[in-house]
Amino acid sequence: MAIRFAALGATVVCVDINDTSNEETVKMIQARKQKAFKYRCDVTERSAVMQLAERVRKEVGDVAVLVNNAGMMPCNPVLQQTEQEITLMNKLNINANIWMIQAFLPVMVQRNYGHIVAMSSMAGLQGIKNLVPYCGSKYAVKGIMDSLAVELRSDPRDLSGIKLTTIFPYIINTGLCKKPRIRFKNLMKVVEPGEAADIIINAMRREYTEISIPQDLHYLNRYIYRLLPLEAGCTWMDFIDAGVDAHG
Ligand SMILES: *[C@@H]1O[C@H](CO)[C@@H](O)[C@H](O)[C@H]1NC(C)=O
Repeated sequence: MAIRFAALGATVVCVDINDTSNEETVKMIQARKQKAFKYRCDVTERSAVMQLAERVRKEVGDVAVLVNNAGMMPCNPVLQQTEQEITLMNKLNINANIWMIQAFLPVMVQRNYGHIVAMSSMAGLQGIKNLVPYCGSKYAVKGIMDSLAVELRSDPRDLSGIKLTTIFPYIINTGLCKKPRIRFKNLMKVVEPGEAADIIINAMRREYTEISIPQDLHYLNRYIYRLLPLEAGCTWMDFIDAGVDAHG
């Protein structure tokens, strides 16, 4: 996404907890004579996020597009997941979204201009086995974005220039999902990161409020599956037999 935003002429601010991988991304962008800055930040720490926003504002400028992409996915039956793993996941998948919004929304409000993109998941629309805490965190991302939309809309100031996009990916080949399970590979294909980035940026530029990846799944999941009673939805999902296996 960073590489593609830069190619579109954006000045990209890359934020990563890992300075080495961040350096790789920024170097790739700079090698093409495009603009990228790198910041190291643990986004689970609210104070670190506030400092980040302050530094970026001084050193780069006002942020117009915020992409909240950091996340982790512990994948095991709920009784096998540890407190440490679950707490860290919630801090990253849920709290960090809110800290980043608190840090970068004020300038967007001042200018009535901006766009926030958040990564929910297919696991933010339906229950999936081995992902009990993760599904909870991805439903939370949906809740955060849905209520932020309602709050901005009801603000007495005109904030219609601030756009929100929530992404509901199935499986992207980034290494996040270690053991995907797919029966119908045309319907539920594993999407390559570059293709996913194109879909996300396209959705953002078209100001879609939400999309799934692959895109057709959105209608299936958001509308058809959710109209069915739980047992019917589960039977349908049993037939599709798509999900993730436990890491063990
Ligand atoms: C940081 O990124 C580098 C390069 O991608 C990788 O080799 C390394 O394992 C990462 N470090 C951690 C702690 O994840």
